[in-house]
Amino acid sequence: MLTALLAGVLCLWAVPGLEAQVPYERNLSKLRINELGNLAMQMEHSINAEKYACESYFDHVCSRNRPLFSIMGHMPQTSDLIQLLTKLQNDPVQFEAKQKLIDFFISCNTRKSLMDCYRETFEYFKPLFGYIITKDLVEASSHELQDFRDLIQSFLVRTQTVFDNDVNPIRNKLRTYREKFASPGIYFYAGDLNREYAALRIYRESYDHNLRNLEQHRKRNSSYELGVQRTMLDWSLYLYQSQHKPMSYYYPTFTVHLYMTMFNITERQRDFTRFREDVECLKLPQYVNVLSEARMLAVIYLKSFRHTWQEYSDWIQLSTKHREIYDQENEILRQHHLSNKRLFFTLYAQNFCEFGKELAEHVFYLGLKENADFFNTYSCGFQTDTARDCV
Ligand SMILES: *[C@@H]1O[C@H](CO)[C@@H](O)[C@H](O)[C@H]1NC(C)=O
Ligand SMILES: *[C@@H]1O[C@H](CO)[C@@H](O)[C@H](O)[C@H]1NC(C)=O
Ligand SMILES: *[C@@H]1O[C@H](CO)[C@@H](O)[C@H](O)[C@H]1NC(C)=O
Repeated sequence: MLTALLAGVLCLWAVPGLEAQVPYERNLSKLRINELGNLAMQMEHSINAEKYACESYFDHVCSRNRPLFSIMGHMPQTSDLIQLLTKLQNDPVQFEAKQKLIDFFISCNTRKSLMDCYRETFEYFKPLFGYIITKDLVEASSHELQDFRDLIQSFLVRTQTVFDNDVNPIRNKLRTYREKFASPGIYFYAGDLNREYAALRIYRESYDHNLRNLEQHRKRNSSYELGVQRTMLDWSLYLYQSQHKPMSYYYPTFTVHLYMTMFNITERQRDFTRFREDVECLKLPQYVNVLSEARMLAVIYLKSFRHTWQEYSDWIQLSTKHREIYDQENEILRQHHLSNKRLFFTLYAQNFCEFGKELAEHVFYLGLKENADFFNTYSCGFQTDTARDCV
């Protein structure tokens, strides 16, 4: 069914060239193999191997303070930033808003590095980056976009029975976004962008003026900060920073957030007495039990983790092709003493580094602590003290 759905997707921007993406046929593309290598290297810097994973997973994945993925900020590598700016400059469509961004970077680069210029002004120029990303980099035919739409679809299918009618508005929105992401580029038109930046004055020669003008511009209401446009923009940027990544990356960074959003609604609507009984059955640590909000979060995250892990496990088994991709990735990762499962658990756990050790281990990691795959992956002795069937 999914294939039929995706077969209708038009290839809007066939941009052949080095970056063109080769969908999986038997073997992984060079780009995906390279990205696995990169990810493995980043992971080596990210985790603290001196901290034993089974003892404190938080210390293991968070104590070096270098998460692999950050939902909060989009910070490309220098080479990616240069690629983005070059693509934007070489894009045959000439329009004012784009010229403003380019002039700004020229003025800024006389004083600072490109990365600093980007870091300081990313929020202002996000829609223009969205424009070039969806036009040139997240191609309609790319496996990212297909995988991404499959992720939304599979979430919708699997949760049909999990979430009742009350959360249908969100499910309907997701259905719409899946369609919109067949051609995300149409949300970033040159004409709209010109209007968005119409009042902004940028001078090539005067970085100081530009900074001030940007501050002013920021105070205006941006049409890209609201509703559909915002989600299209945020998810497009997410797709860009997720290029060539394995599925063990997408599930713990995207799908899990969909579950959290849904359970955050449904769990709060549940019958209070039943909820309390379930929580008592879970035998949560004292630290969590004393606060009703902590209990609530514990259940939301436990459920979100379980469902996400189940989805990923099912994805692996869904077809021979998936299994082959998974095995090949693991073979490459093995050279770095890694595996898809380790990637999954690390990325999941790093969602919560900023909350600190106590909250992470007592509230957010409950799912990990009762997961047999987790224990096997890190060769911890498997012993569960959480009752699995309570919630
Ligand atoms: C696929 O990769 C495997 C090793 O990972 C190699 O033995 C095989 O020849 C490759 N097949 C193709 C069609 O490239
Ligand atoms: C921005 O939007 C808010 C809420 O819609 C509105 O109250 C405010 O007046 C707007 N500001 C400007 C400068 O348009
Ligand atoms: C969860 O729900 C609460 C209460 O409705 C809300 O304040 C909070 O922002 C939500 N959190 C997430 C992550 O959706």
